[in-house]
Amino acid sequence: MNSMKPIQVGLLGIGTVGSGTFKVLLCNQEEIRRRAGRGIAITMVADLDTARAQAVVGDSARVVNDARAVIADPAIDIVVELIGGYGIARALVLEAIAAGKHVVTANKALLAVHGSEIFAAARAKGVIVAFEAAVAGGIPIIKALREGLTANRIEWVAGIINGTTNFILSEMRAKGLDFAVALAEAQAHGYAEADPTFDIEGIDAAHKATIMSAIAFGIPVQFEKAYVEGIVALQAADIRYAEQLGYRIKLLGITRRRKAGIELRVHPTLVPAQRLIANVEGAMNAVVVQGDAVGTTLYYGKGAGSEPTASAVIADLVDITRLHTADPDHRVPHLAFQPGSLASTPILPIGDVVTAFYLRLVVADEAGVLARITAILAEHAISIDAVLQRESGEGEKQTDLIILTHDTVEGRMNLALAQMQALPTVLAPIVRIRKEELN
Ligand code: HSE
Repeated sequence: MNSMKPIQVGLLGIGTVGSGTFKVLLCNQEEIRRRAGRGIAITMVADLDTARAQAVVGDSARVVNDARAVIADPAIDIVVELIGGYGIARALVLEAIAAGKHVVTANKALLAVHGSEIFAAARAKGVIVAFEAAVAGGIPIIKALREGLTANRIEWVAGIINGTTNFILSEMRAKGLDFAVALAEAQAHGYAEADPTFDIEGIDAAHKATIMSAIAFGIPVQFEKAYVEGIVALQAADIRYAEQLGYRIKLLGITRRRKAGIELRVHPTLVPAQRLIANVEGAMNAVVVQGDAVGTTLYYGKGAGSEPTASAVIADLVDITRLHTADPDHRVPHLAFQPGSLASTPILPIGDVVTAFYLRLVVADEAGVLARITAILAEHAISIDAVLQRESGEGEKQTDLIILTHDTVEGRMNLALAQMQALPTVLAPIVRIRKEELN
């Protein structure tokens, strides 16, 4: 079997992940061949910067500046799309599928938004679209959800799936920094992009949560239904108060099965400080999965970077090398469930989501204020878990009032918040951050 000629791979884009893929494949080629049953060789690379591409691959691969030349080459068995974004990447992936190529992609945005179209095209053509690198970089979470946990009815998945924002939150907590200062630090470390919008506004995490949700529950990818809230509005004071109450604030991607439907949401979240996931610091990623048979499992590692992401890309290349001659009906389905068995369970609107809350109110420090606020919560059947009162640093006439609630429906909390905000003794916009016990 090892005498078979290597499977031939064409890369579209050879930036950070592409060069890592080239390097790791070369470095571990013997081990990889022993696992895959034959060699895996990158024989063609398309990149607009042909000089840089040539410098990476030397004379081992043909370098072109036209991605379509790779797709059109009959010798190429697998196309690896590392361009990113929804635009040209979508067209190229669909063209590669139409040309009968298997596709490996790290493109979470593309799959979260156009996954249904792409997987249907791949099915019709009998080719594989593999995407381990699209979620949590080097952590094999797609493999775990799709295969390792296949016996389970998954109940929920919660993850730190954006390293840039986790780095920012870690710096804000450890050094008491404001968001803008921590963001500048992340950029200086090369974590955040020059335009970090997708990271800090939670969009990147929502792309990844959407993909995990589809695989966990056997539903189509539905990014447009995800609730997305980033970390831009987070204040150092809330990180400090959360800590005093025994919590850390993390940007979590959460998807949970409820009776009425599925929750799919990304937002800053208070998590008990003693949970392992609350202690994931810096640019690291972690995902917790709750399955009915296995209980809670945790996956931790690097969610980005050249070689960690290459590790996931190459795992997909090995899978395809092993499986490409198998009857397409006997391969692992793209979304873990057989395509004819996907459920139409709705994604719940955020108003129907159930969570606990952290509230911070700046209130006038006078008699009866706390009583009025707790009365409003009681009117809406929202139960209080803890209350903390602290000088707000703005003089004696006002104070910070921090309230933790038990679980409630978000719509009900919104009604209570509107009533509290209208009180003349509430002096500033109320801060509300969702809280999850994850137990
Ligand atoms: N911008 C992403 C992050 C990179 O910060 O985690 C990996 O998708």
